[in-house]
Amino acid sequence: MTVLITGGAGYIGSLTARLIRASGRATVILDTLENGHRKAVGDAPFVQGDVADSSLVERICSEHGVDEVVHFAAYKAVGESMSNPEKYFNNNVIGSQKLFGALNNAGVERVVFSSTAAVYGTPSTVPVRETDPLHCESVYAETKLMIENTLRWYAQTTPMRHACLRYFNAAGASDDATLGEDWRFSQNLIPHVMKAVLGHSPVLQVFGNDFPTPDGTGVRDYIHVEDLARAHVAALDYLSAGNESITCNVGTGHGTSVLEIIAATERISGKKVPHEIVARRPGDPSQCYADAGLITEKFDWSPQRNLDDIISSAYAWHSSHPQGHDS
Ligand code: WQD
Repeated sequence: MTVLITGGAGYIGSLTARLIRASGRATVILDTLENGHRKAVGDAPFVQGDVADSSLVERICSEHGVDEVVHFAAYKAVGESMSNPEKYFNNNVIGSQKLFGALNNAGVERVVFSSTAAVYGTPSTVPVRETDPLHCESVYAETKLMIENTLRWYAQTTPMRHACLRYFNAAGASDDATLGEDWRFSQNLIPHVMKAVLGHSPVLQVFGNDFPTPDGTGVRDYIHVEDLARAHVAALDYLSAGNESITCNVGTGHGTSVLEIIAATERISGKKVPHEIVARRPGDPSQCYADAGLITEKFDWSPQRNLDDIISSAYAWHSSHPQGHDS
C-alpha cells in the first residue's frame, strides 16, 4: 500500500509521514514547499507541486500505486484568513475539491483529513464533543468545515471513505528532536514560550489572566505531535479494515493553562520564562479541550505522552533548531 501525503513537508505532516513509513506503508509526499521544508521530507519519494493540479495528482496515484491519502496541505493562520479570505478559500477549499476529484478518478477510496477543533468556535461547554454545535469563527475554520462536508458528500456518492481528525492543540517535537515547528512562522503558545525561555524574544505576552479558569489564563488541550501522528496511522488502519467514515476529535481530554505551560517550561529548562500579562487576544475562548471518547473507542489509539514530554521535546528541538530546518 502506498500513502499519498499532501503537505508532508510541514510540521505535523513530516512527522506523520515518517511514522507511516515506520508502520510499513510506502509513502509519496506532495508539497509546494511554500510553507514546508525539503529537509523535513528526508529521503522519502517527493513531488513538489500543488494538490489543485489534478493531472499531477492522477499521475502520482498511477505511478506510485496510491491507495490511501493523508491530506494535510492547507494554509492555517487564523488571523491571515480573516484579512485574506480569497487566499484561504482558493487554496484550502478549491484545492481540496480538485484533489478529491482527482483521487476519485484515480480510484483512491480512503482519505484521512487534517481538520481542526476550530470548527467548534468558542465552545459552550467543555469537554467538547463531536456532536456539539459547530460555530466557525474564522475563515480558516470555515474552510476546514467545508472540506469535511465535501468529504461527507463524496462518502455518499462515491466509494471514497474518510476519517476527519479534528486536532486540538498540536505541540511538541519528534522524540529525536529532528522534526518540529518553525517558531519563525508560528503564532502558537509553545513556540512563543520557547523563544522567550531561550532568549530569542524579549518577553512572552500572556493574553489575559481574567478568564473564568482556575488560574485566570486560557486553557487548551495540548496533544503531543507524536501522539497526533499515531492517530493518523490508527485512522489509516481503521479505514483499511473496511470501517465506515468517521469524524473525531484528537486530543488528550485534559485542559492545561498558559501559566501551567510556563511553570512546566521553567521546571524542565531550569530557566525563567520572562513573561507579562497583557490584554486578552480577541476571539480567544477561556477553555477548549476535547472529549476524546470517540477516537479511543473507534481507533486503537490513546495519547501516550504527557505535558512534560511536550515541553521537553519542544525545548530540545528549538534549542538545536533556532532557524527551524534552516538551522
Ligand atoms: C493557546 C493559548 C492563547 C500565544 C490555534 C488555532 C487553532 C489551531 C491551534 C490549527 C491561548 C495563549 C498564545 C501567546 C498566549 N490551529 N497565548 N500568548 O488559539 O488555542 O488555537 O492553534 O488548527 O485553529 O486557533 O492556540 O497557541 O494560539 O493559543 O497567551 O503568545 O495560549 O491566548 O489561551 P489556539 P494558541
